Amino acid sequence: MWMFGLMSALLLTGIPVPPASPADEIERKIAALLRQMTLEEKLGQLQMLDGDVDGSYRPDHLDLVRRGLVGAFLNVRGARRVNELQRIAVEESRLKIPLLFGFDVLHGYRTIFPVPLAEASSWDPEAVQRAASIAAAEARAAGVTWTFAPMVDIARDPRWGRIVEGSGEDPHLGSVMARARVRGFQGHDYSASDRVLACAKHFVGYGAAEGGRDYNTTDMSERTLREIYLPPFKAAVEAGVGTIMSAFNDLSGIPASANPFTLTTILRGEWKFDGVVLSDYTAIEELMAHGLAADGAEAARYALDAGVDMEMVSRLYSRHVPQLIKEGKLSMATLDEAVRRVLRIKFRLGLFERPYADEARERAVLLRPEHRAAAREMAARSIVLLKNEGHLLPLSKTVRTLAVIGPLADDQRNLLGPWSGDGRAEDVVAILSGITAKLGPTARVLHARGCEITDCSSREIAEAVRLARQAEVAIVVVGESAEMSGEAASRASLDLPGRQLELVKAIHATGTPTVVLLVNGRPLTIPWIAEHVPAILETWFAGTEAGHAIADVLFGDVNPGGKLPVTFPRSVGQIPIYYNHKRTGRPPNPTNKYTSKYLDEEVTPLFPFGYGLSYSQFQISHLQLSRQRIRPDESLTVSVEVENIGSRTGDEVVQLYICDVAASVTRPVRELKGFRRITLRPGEKGRITFTLGPEHLGFYDRQMQFIVEPGEFRIFVGTSSVGGLEASFEVVQ
Ligand code: NOJ
Repeated sequence: MWMFGLMSALLLTGIPVPPASPADEIERKIAALLRQMTLEEKLGQLQMLDGDVDGSYRPDHLDLVRRGLVGAFLNVRGARRVNELQRIAVEESRLKIPLLFGFDVLHGYRTIFPVPLAEASSWDPEAVQRAASIAAAEARAAGVTWTFAPMVDIARDPRWGRIVEGSGEDPHLGSVMARARVRGFQGHDYSASDRVLACAKHFVGYGAAEGGRDYNTTDMSERTLREIYLPPFKAAVEAGVGTIMSAFNDLSGIPASANPFTLTTILRGEWKFDGVVLSDYTAIEELMAHGLAADGAEAARYALDAGVDMEMVSRLYSRHVPQLIKEGKLSMATLDEAVRRVLRIKFRLGLFERPYADEARERAVLLRPEHRAAAREMAARSIVLLKNEGHLLPLSKTVRTLAVIGPLADDQRNLLGPWSGDGRAEDVVAILSGITAKLGPTARVLHARGCEITDCSSREIAEAVRLARQAEVAIVVVGESAEMSGEAASRASLDLPGRQLELVKAIHATGTPTVVLLVNGRPLTIPWIAEHVPAILETWFAGTEAGHAIADVLFGDVNPGGKLPVTFPRSVGQIPIYYNHKRTGRPPNPTNKYTSKYLDEEVTPLFPFGYGLSYSQFQISHLQLSRQRIRPDESLTVSVEVENIGSRTGDEVVQLYICDVAASVTRPVRELKGFRRITLRPGEKGRITFTLGPEHLGFYDRQMQFIVEPGEFRIFVGTSSVGGLEASFEVVQ
């Protein structure tokens, strides 16, 4: 009314009428479409159907597209195939509404970057953003408009295979990475021809699956939900993520895909999210298996009412919503709102104007040399040096005989890791090839598998030992297969599978200096290796350029600077083990039996969160606080000097942790609140400044209000979650 009044007034005065904003224009078009849509066509927009793993579509889906009964596909990819389906939607369906094409592009489309957990080990959000933007460019060129990424689930249990897909255990690191990935995928405007719509998943709590068993129940306090599991989603929403995927798990009694508290109260109400919520694969149908819904109609009603707009694969909305509306159990307004949101992202993606992918562009963009170069750099930045006794690493390039041993030494396929998009094994640089390429023809590089990942014969080990004896250095590449992490890949043991530890022991026993390279998607329990083997590199699943990147680090062309984004336990019995735990009334005390510990295991981890070495050494000093006392709404700065006191240029990740000493709700021993990766030449110094404000110092009080409470705060600035320089300040009323 008011707008109308203003417009007519402007017309009367002769002042030019401002053109409608693009957003208004979109809303107008959506309203016009909605007016024309039948109930079936509306429900069609809320339906996502699956293609095949190889990227093709099912012929029986064509007719559904023609009738306007599908809004989106997953897994269908490749410009030609996407265009075939899209043509039916925009030329043969009644309302000509384009389709969305979604795909799991988690760490690359064709050029595969390190797995997300590895990328998080870089503690380098700019690099992570760049990787996501390259993944987006390749995916969009192949007709994919929507990635089911970033996966931002906090994971405190390494038995859970999906820990590999996220950024580890910490909400701050997880939030920084979530933001970086959303920006990388979507850019400023996801209608651009080199960007895709992102989807933060799995909302929410999925990473807290009991026992680390995938799809299992989660049950947590609202405080834990808000302080640990929600922050990366909030960060993604603040960064403008267009969509959210609702998770499989039961969340404290109300499954996440039917949870009005998380999906509506928090996501839409508190965070003002205006994008689309998509269910995970058949998660709506699974509301029956959860024992929440008695039948399909009830499942559809629960999910749509709670705020799930689009249904992936199961088809309960299209089957039951008409009847539910007729019976007054669901309102047309709720349905229209969901349809409006889906149409809005289609308009924002520019699909109505440019529905097709460009096949020539696809050929030109995939696996570009500069994409491979970026993947190599990202992989090298993701590597974590866990041990380097006697400066065994870096190895000299003048080494004459080297033995490269292990089931993953000459492997291509597994290095892609899980969720490897359209990555191809034949594109991957194996570790053996990377080393051979680095050393050239002058070196003798001997190779034996020694064993398989899960089984082996004593003869194979003997052959590997024979080669190791002839070499100046033995590199043993051990770990997991790609299938051992990712979805439905929980493990009850975190030991090296099969007889790989036996292989490592046998090689080490030759007396040839031994380096262990770990290829894996989660923390492994490797106490023997950590104690006996002089050098260990955590290389994760490093992607297409793995071999080159690992060789860059092994021979010192790159100085490793990654840090663990997750705690490495000594044994599975310690899990859950994460750095930001509460203090307990009886903190562990070795001289008192009646304190919190194990009879048969240490309480400390094998490698702590934030840990990682360099070929250089760094010294942190001159910790300074801008103020000793602040009010709850004020900020202070914390700065330190960091100096490279070693003899090589290298990177250090300076980390800032806080501890709220006493509060009305117990607080963790430490919480990460800032970090910075810095490169310094030998002898070079840098000063790093962090700002600590209310968003870092606050917590949810007994009434679930986010507040900053007066009292003492301790801070720690160091190179991992253990030790560091200490200071304190006070918040006063
Ligand atoms: C199920 C997984 O949980 C989810 O992460 C993925 O995006 C969908 N499948 C689609 O592949």
